Amino acid sequence: MRERTLDLFDAIDHDVAHRPADTIMSPPVWDLGHIAAYEELWLVRRLVGGEARHPQLDATYDAFETPRAVRGDIELLDDTGCRAFLEDVRGRALDALESVDLSPDGPALSANGFVFEMVAQHEAQHTETMLQGLKMLPPGDYRPPRRETSHAAGERPPARGNGAGAPLEVPGGRHVIGTDNGRVALDCERPAHAVEVEPFRIGRRPVTNAEWAEFVADGGYTDESLWSSAGWAWRGTASADSPAYWESDGAGGWLERDYDCIDSVQPERPVCHVTAHEADAFARWAGARLPSEAEWEVAAHHFDAESRPGALDQLDFAPGPCDAEANGAPEQMIGGVWEWTASGFAGYPGFRAFPYAEYAEVFFGGPYRVLRGGSWATQPHAARATFRNWDLPERRQIFAGVRLAWDGSA
Ligand code: AVJ
Ligand code: FE
Repeated sequence: MRERTLDLFDAIDHDVAHRPADTIMSPPVWDLGHIAAYEELWLVRRLVGGEARHPQLDATYDAFETPRAVRGDIELLDDTGCRAFLEDVRGRALDALESVDLSPDGPALSANGFVFEMVAQHEAQHTETMLQGLKMLPPGDYRPPRRETSHAAGERPPARGNGAGAPLEVPGGRHVIGTDNGRVALDCERPAHAVEVEPFRIGRRPVTNAEWAEFVADGGYTDESLWSSAGWAWRGTASADSPAYWESDGAGGWLERDYDCIDSVQPERPVCHVTAHEADAFARWAGARLPSEAEWEVAAHHFDAESRPGALDQLDFAPGPCDAEANGAPEQMIGGVWEWTASGFAGYPGFRAFPYAEYAEVFFGGPYRVLRGGSWATQPHAARATFRNWDLPERRQIFAGVRLAWDGSA
């Protein structure tokens, strides 16, 4: 996992690493220093009472004291300094691992190795954030080291028809969502609890670029009746007429940029880089709705979605194509693109912040919308059916798409 982080970072030019792509993002060196500082905080300072290597940088690498908008304007460790910090902390964290009690009934922080899992997932989350920022740069400022046989390049017939292939039926009733897994689950995924859902249907695959292009051609971006009032206001301010990274080809079609490559949109790929507002408007246009996050997770468990992930591991640099022919089981619920849900971010009944409220609790009840499933830029150990991600409904730099849902059975 550390190798993944350093491989990612090694492919970024020095100048690019030291400046943010946008005011909503951090310079990549901030993420790198923050990864080290977080590991030191949890595995060295909190776990075994070790010392801070750079105590004067505590505020700099605290996400709340130093918000993204200012991270480009302050003194940070440079790339060499970050690498030394990472290495130093890792050595001390491994020493801590030797001495702490990992048994299930030991201290809560280290029981079952939880805090080590938490720190590893945190690092993975920041590598996804870096990949979002790198995509916002002008083409060519960052050239992704694509894997040679990209899963994203496969040729398949375009997937068409109402955002779903054949929608799959999920039985209503009492289902358990969330988890009591104290080893890998982060606090907001806990506890396991029963939810009642009505019978519903869910898309067999995420909405594809071909379907999104039909929505655009049908005037989806100019028909106010499809949009929520917040969504319509966002659309106006952003002058949005298509997903981020799409541009007109001048002949009625669309081009899509994947980092340094600009090409015709691939019709069978899941649409990516849409806001929750656009997802809502698309769903209304399609005569559907977004799933609630409970429905999404019920469907993921019902169909064992973890056994059929889409692109997942950061090496494709795009989601892979949907399989137009397939039937029966949903594809790419895990991996591919994050999927917006209709749900705001809130604590489950019985939630307890652990080990710190700033991971999730401080975002409960705010404007944040839950996303599920993970993207091609998520690492496998950070993606699972119970994982809850959240972001503002107007964000489109995240690798987010849409899966539709419908009431009742067919
Ligand atoms: C879970 C992706 C919403 O990046 O804002 C990183 C994760 N928390 N460092 C974020 C996180 C602290 C968080 N998300
Ligand atoms: Fe963080």
